[in-house]
Amino acid sequence: MPLKFAAPDADAIPLHIIESDALDAWISEQNETVANWVKLNGFAGKIGEILMVPATDDTPVMAVAGYGTAQKRARERFALAAAAARLPDGVYKIASGLPGNLLETECLGWLLAHHKFDRYNKKTQRSVELVAPDGINAGRVEAIAAAETLLRDLINTPTSDMGPDTLEQAVHDLAKQHGAESSSIVGENLIEQNFPLIHTVGRAAATPPRLIDLRWGDSGPKLTLVGKGVCFDTGGLNLKPRSGMATMKKDMGGAANVLGLAHMIMSQRLPVQLRVLIPAVENSVSGNSFRPGDILQSRKGLTVENNNTDAEGRLVLADALALADEDSPDLLISVATLTGAARVALGSDIAPFFTDDDDAAEKLCAAAGRVDDPVWRLPFHDPYEKKIEPTIAHLDNAPSGGFAGAITAALFLRRFAGQSRYMHFDIYAWSSFNLPARPKGGCGQGVRALFDALPDLLPS
Ligand code: BES
Ligand code: ZN
Ligand code: ZN
Repeated sequence: MPLKFAAPDADAIPLHIIESDALDAWISEQNETVANWVKLNGFAGKIGEILMVPATDDTPVMAVAGYGTAQKRARERFALAAAAARLPDGVYKIASGLPGNLLETECLGWLLAHHKFDRYNKKTQRSVELVAPDGINAGRVEAIAAAETLLRDLINTPTSDMGPDTLEQAVHDLAKQHGAESSSIVGENLIEQNFPLIHTVGRAAATPPRLIDLRWGDSGPKLTLVGKGVCFDTGGLNLKPRSGMATMKKDMGGAANVLGLAHMIMSQRLPVQLRVLIPAVENSVSGNSFRPGDILQSRKGLTVENNNTDAEGRLVLADALALADEDSPDLLISVATLTGAARVALGSDIAPFFTDDDDAAEKLCAAAGRVDDPVWRLPFHDPYEKKIEPTIAHLDNAPSGGFAGAITAALFLRRFAGQSRYMHFDIYAWSSFNLPARPKGGCGQGVRALFDALPDLLPS
């Protein structure tokens, strides 16, 4: 079901969103019947609490939703979604109470609260609709909701139905939807066209590896997005243990996130020349798997000593980044579920990012705050460069010891991004729990912040 706002509707149920400390004041403004009903039902205005107030002679049916306190809301995201998920079917319009600065994000949360990944277990869809309140750009919020549902569905779909070939098809479908061009280089053609790392990582899988390329827009600054499309990461010959492999269908979360961002950009017709590059592979085990100790060639000409077949993401991204850089984009962004170390540092909720551009970092952090999509900058710490320089090749994909694992992975990628202005996101792309507007499963990270910041990040 597409997540859309309801058309303005005179019969929509008025929804009052009430902070717990403003409840007494709100009650004192109501007639006696409403005031008594709210009091007798013990409504306290907590986040996620709802109460339907029946119609009487002088009031129509209305709904109240708790909004907690600013302090409590700091501990939750999408506080309105928590209530929206509990409201009975109907069309609602916000009658009072939602602060302006988070209006769009809260309305996005409402839409997302009603998305379920039901491909394998169809459920009756609920219909809890919201009339877009004045002051929001409803089309933009709907586009962001569509992008988020697209990327979640891509991540949640297991590899049996989301291999490199299906991921490629998803890119072609997105391109068709927006009148973009898309193409791909598949299997042995990767060798002929000089993408040796993508081929090396993906050659052991039953579905051949590929590099997917989407282009849209013919004027404006050049923006290139590169997403890690490892459709399943077994770890390769350095096989992951059971617990580490369990969620590895999500190792194309970077690809899904850049496709979500591309959807936002194209549907809102941002004046950019957009390119999306996705190296799509499965990191599998077979007789022709690449091995620990192999020295690998790359598109850029740098050789890589493969010290862990589980550090495959940076390998496939390296060739895609080298291609991206050949085009001299104004801004080059990679998004990848790249390291466990990034999770250890910041947990699943905050997207670490790297850039050498202080101004861009500041603007991105400001946008992240505006749209409640948390990011945190980690450093491209130059003194750690020596950690990725082994003795018999130019680069090492898995420095021993593992200290600063997210940074050494980012430094590795930076070598291939060349002279381009570069930002790299090391995301988790997964919600481990059922949270308001973010059910357990795939999720977007950092891309809403990026979309909000883009006009400030790109040259005009
Ligand atoms: N896909 C994983 C990283 C990952 C694991 C992201 C779990 C999110 C959740 C990646 O390919 C990987 O295995 N990285 C290794 C690199 C190491 C061998 C240098 C890691 O982080 O342990
Ligand atoms: Zn891996
Ligand atoms: Zn991986």
